[in-house]
Formats: sequence, C-alpha cells, structure tokens
Amino acid sequence: MASQQALTELAKRRGFFFGANEAYGGTAGFYTFGPEGAALKRNVEAAWREQFTLRLGNEEIEAPTVMPEPVFEASGHLDGFDDMLIECAECGESHRADHLIEDAVADIEDAEALGVDRVEELIREHDLACPTCGADLAGEPVEDFNLMFETSIGPGSGQPGYLRPETAQGIFVEFPRLKEYARGQLPFGITQIGPAYRNEISPRRGIIRVREFTQAELEQFIDPEEDEPPLEAVEDVEVTLYPVSEQHADDGEYIETTIGEAVDDAIITSPWVAYFLGVAQGWYERVGVDMDRFRFRQHLSGERAHYAADCWDAESEIGGNWIEIAGFAYRGDYDLTKHGEHSEDRFTVFKRYDEPKTVERATVDPDMAALGPEFGGAAGDVADALQELAESDPDAFDGDEVTVETDGESYTVDTEVANFSVEEQTENGEHITPHVVEPSFGVGRTVYTLLEHAYSEDEVDDETRTYLSLAPEIAPTDVAVFPLISNDDALIDVASDLADELRAAGISVSYDDSGSIGRRYRRQDEVGTPFCVTVDQDGLEGDDETTVTLRERDSAAQLRLPVAELAAELEAVFDG
Ligand code: GAP
Repeated sequence: MASQQALTELAKRRGFFFGANEAYGGTAGFYTFGPEGAALKRNVEAAWREQFTLRLGNEEIEAPTVMPEPVFEASGHLDGFDDMLIECAECGESHRADHLIEDAVADIEDAEALGVDRVEELIREHDLACPTCGADLAGEPVEDFNLMFETSIGPGSGQPGYLRPETAQGIFVEFPRLKEYARGQLPFGITQIGPAYRNEISPRRGIIRVREFTQAELEQFIDPEEDEPPLEAVEDVEVTLYPVSEQHADDGEYIETTIGEAVDDAIITSPWVAYFLGVAQGWYERVGVDMDRFRFRQHLSGERAHYAADCWDAESEIGGNWIEIAGFAYRGDYDLTKHGEHSEDRFTVFKRYDEPKTVERATVDPDMAALGPEFGGAAGDVADALQELAESDPDAFDGDEVTVETDGESYTVDTEVANFSVEEQTENGEHITPHVVEPSFGVGRTVYTLLEHAYSEDEVDDETRTYLSLAPEIAPTDVAVFPLISNDDALIDVASDLADELRAAGISVSYDDSGSIGRRYRRQDEVGTPFCVTVDQDGLEGDDETTVTLRERDSAAQLRLPVAELAAELEAVFDG
C-alpha cells in the first residue's frame, strides 16, 4: 500500500498529476493531469464509455458547463446545495463545520443532518479549535455555504449563471429533445462525461476533493410501473454491502451477499439500483480496483442529496480510509417534475395504452346568460369552478343546487343552469413523468484508486523497485521500446522502426534511447507500462530472423521472440 505522500510524490515526479497554477502560487482544489495522468484518465473514460454507454445500449451527449440561474432554481441547487462553513476569526481559514464535529465526537457520523444551530452548539460544547492555527472556534457562527461557482453570462451585468455542480443537469434540461430522439420510448439512458464544479470549503487529499473534477454519469429514464432491469445479468455478482439498517445497529457489520439475494432480502429495494451496483462492480474489477478494498454503503437519510429517495455509494479503501468513488441514486421523478414546473417545456412522455380505454368524463356546459346577470364579473370563474367540481365530485350535482367557491366567495347555482352531463371518451394513453436512476462516477477518484491499488514494491537485482501494476487496458502507455545501447545506430534503426510499426497497429508506444537500460525499465515500471521491448545485438545477429526481448512489468521476466510476431502478440493482450 502506498502512503499518500509516496503516491503524490510519484504522481508529481512522473507526470500523473500536480497542483495547478504553481507558477502563481497554486490554487487550492485545482489539479493538472500531466501526460501520464491525462492518458490514464482518458483510458478510464474510454473503458467507462465502452461499458456504460456502448454495452448498455445508451446514448452519450455533451452539454454546456455553464447554465443559467433558472435551471438551478428548478433543480433545487440554489437553495439546497450547501455545506456548513465556519471561518476562523484568527487566521481567516474556512473549515467544514460538520467535519470538525464528526472528527471530534465519536458517535456523530452525519453532523450535517443536525442543522446549523445544533452544530454551532456542539462546537461550543466541545471547545473545538481551528485545525489550522489552534484558535478557539466557540464564538464563531456556522453558516450554510452554497457550493456553486457563480458567473455572469454576457457583457455588462449579464444574466446570472453557474458552473454546473453535476453533469446530470445538462441531461435533465435537454429531456424534451432527448425523449424525441428516443422516440418517446422508455426505458432509455443518456450518458455524459465532463467537468463539474464545486467551490469546496476545504479541498483536501490531493485529487480526492477538488473544485473542478470530471464526472461520468448515466441518467436512466424508466417507467416505474413497467420497466424492469435485466437483473439476471448480475444476480450472481458477489458484493459487500453496508445498508443503513446495519449502520444503525450496535454491532452493525458489512454483509457479504450477491446482488440477487440483496434484492430478494430487500436489502436493496430498487432493482434498478441493484442492477447498476452489479454492473459497476464488474467494471471496477475490470479496470483494476482491488475487490478486497471495495464495497457499497447505503446513505444515511441526512446524508442524501435533496433529490435522492435512496442512494448507495461505491467506496474504495485508500491509505486506510474509505472514500466515495461513485454514487447510485434513485432520483424518482424529482428532476423532471421540477424542470416541468419551472419551464415552458413538457418533461413527460406519452404512454400509449395497449388498448384504447373508454372513460367517463363529467362536464358542465353552464348557461352563461343565466350566470351572467346574477354573478356579474365572476361568471367565468364560477363556470371554471363548476367544471373542476364536476371532475372531482360528480355526486355534488345530484341535488337541485350546487355550491362552488372562487376567490374566497361562495356561489350557489341551480343544477339545471350548470347543465351537468357525463360523456364517454376514448383515451389512447396518458402523459407520465419518468423516474430517474443515476449511476454517477468520479473519474479523478477512480484514477486515484487505481494508482493506489496498483502501487507495488519488490526487490529486483538487490534493489527496491516501485511499479504500478495497472491493467493493460488502463495503463497510460501500452509498450516501451528501447535499443539496448543508446548510441548504436543499427539498434536505434530497428527499434525506432519497430516503434512506428506498433503505433501503426494502434498500440501506444514510448520510445526511449537514453540512460542505462536498468533505469529505463524502472521508469516504465513506475508509470505502469505493462511491457518493454528491447532490441539488442544478439537479436540482430541471429541467422534467419531478428529477435527482441519482451519484458513483463510485474514479474520482470523476459522472453525472446521474433520481431515479426511481436505486434500480433501485443495486440492479443490489448484487444483481449
Ligand atoms: N449527479 C449526482 C452527483 O453529482 P455526487 O455523489 O455529488 O452525485 C458523484 O457526485 C461523484 O462525483 C462522487 O461519487 C465523487 O466520485 C465525485 N465527486 C463529487 N465531489 C467531488 C469533488 N469535490 N472532488 C472530486 N470528485 C468529486
């Protein structure tokens, strides 16, 4: 296991990631992925796309990252996307007040659920001090701090806008068009991979909690009454679960079970959420997460986002701590209903019945002349109130008179004047608001987990060697090619031709002809390159064919093979 310091040092030295804008003193919460990190991240995104977009038969979109204020009024982020902030009067440093309580008070796991006033009291009761300078925090106010970055769209005072705090909103607001693309047929899934922004109060632990990060999200739109996931595809997947019931139990423990049993035992109540946990676990295993350091934990009620009816996190163990790397939320009809209420568009789909239905519809056809003189200016409103009553309580028209209220006034109407009748109508379907199930992955946290879980040390040639045991699909570089001796033209010619040939076959190659061969191997080990190919004199001196050595990263074992067989050998590893 790597210490965070060792991994951060390796990440910086070898070009995986480092603090951004360091030439200008750095900006907390922003990181640059260097060449190795950017390649690794691209490979993670490609593997995610291959599974969650292509294999699941979904469609991917790319929406803008800046969105106007009404979007976030509707989504609830303007009001509800807050963290608790306390600022130290002594050093000016800001802290998450709920985290201070959780760190200091053993039996409080979810301080945010307690509310601002109670957290303020607890800070006083426990005499909490500023983690930065040690000053007393007891007299400081705790406030809700909205995490969205605000901006202004257009010149002058412009239109207020925000950097999206989740890629999901870019999918929800386009639902009226996306449903047309899906020809109005549920279920369908839309994915998006892209940046999200949160003005975190205390960004920390390298790329784990940052202010700009990449999310890979799938919004699965379903008819909650009809659509079932293909659960049989994942029912045997073995998972480690920590449901809320266990978290509340005195001796609560993680449950080892299968996805199928977890649904049968109602540990996971939504089959769709269960399905995605199963698919996600398979994907994490494929890209190289250590399954002994991976589990799913259900959110406590106070921990859930404002839109979620239920939520499970995928967690990975990093440096002895468990961190959330993905969330699986049952968002119900929350988002589409809200956008439907706040916009002009229709966020529903038309659900056609198998057979047209004949329904009875109560209507009134009031004699407006009779309503006119008696009811004056209120006649139109009275007619509307009569129609509403006819639909909600047709029996009200059984007597000689019927009474309705409008604008706080009560009006009594002769039933004959109302002209009540019941008509038969044929309906072909109804408008329904789909429910949303959302697997949401943090790409940076996945990258960090893969680096940490791949970090290994062993002894080679009496020296300690560090290597990253990354899955070949994910490693930044597929193969390194070296001439054994740096200044031998014959070796350089063959090696550089070989590098070109492999690149042409779609294999990513690092060519290196400087330094001792041992150093060149170590360098590739440290960036997780699965194979190194070395061109040496022995290989050129053979009678019939040129041979090279192929070295496998984890075992450091080498074998000699004809250069003509190399491309096919490597392609088999990377394709298969
Ligand atoms: N659309 C749902 C959503 O945004 P979330 O749990 O807030 O849910 C999803 O975020 C994932 O995004 C998390 O599981 C985590 O991997 C990643 N994430 C969230 N905040 C982050 C941050 N400040 N820095 C890095 N990754 C973050």
